[in-house]
Amino acid sequence: MSQRTLVLLKPDAVRRGLIGEIIGRIERKADWTISALELRTLGQDVLEQHYGEHKGKPFYEPLVAFMSSGPVVALVVEGERVIEGVRALAGPTDPIAAAPGSIRGDFGTIVRENLIHASDSEESAERELKIFFPSLV
Ligand code: TYD
Ligand code: MG
Repeated sequence: MSQRTLVLLKPDAVRRGLIGEIIGRIERKADWTISALELRTLGQDVLEQHYGEHKGKPFYEPLVAFMSSGPVVALVVEGERVIEGVRALAGPTDPIAAAPGSIRGDFGTIVRENLIHASDSEESAERELKIFFPSLV
């Protein structure tokens, strides 16, 4: 089942020089394609839309501050079961709980600075792709 997902390499990944490392892992998966890719600094408006489900939670304000603290790399990745697949490559939200071999497990320690965002369902992917790549059909 071919799908599309939104991936963000967060400001910590960009600052630490891990863009190539992380994109390399995505690129090496069979039959997945990167169909859009852009470096950009996110504003409050975009982040409020993107993380709307978390508004009001204690981690929301520091999360938005972190996510706007430097550029991110936004990608559209297409391919076989790519939504579940990129979540599996990323590992769970808490990098300390993430297994070695996963992106968060290999490079992260702090929950907020967990390197990568990936859409968590078909509905989320559709919603998030519209926010970041509105010209995509
Ligand atoms: P969430 O959607 O729960 O995680 P995921 O990115 O795995 O889908 O949370 C969004 C981001 O918010 C998460 O990547 C890091 C941050 N966050 C915190 O800083 N503290 C927390 O306790 C949680 C749950 C998330
Ligand atoms: Mg999430």
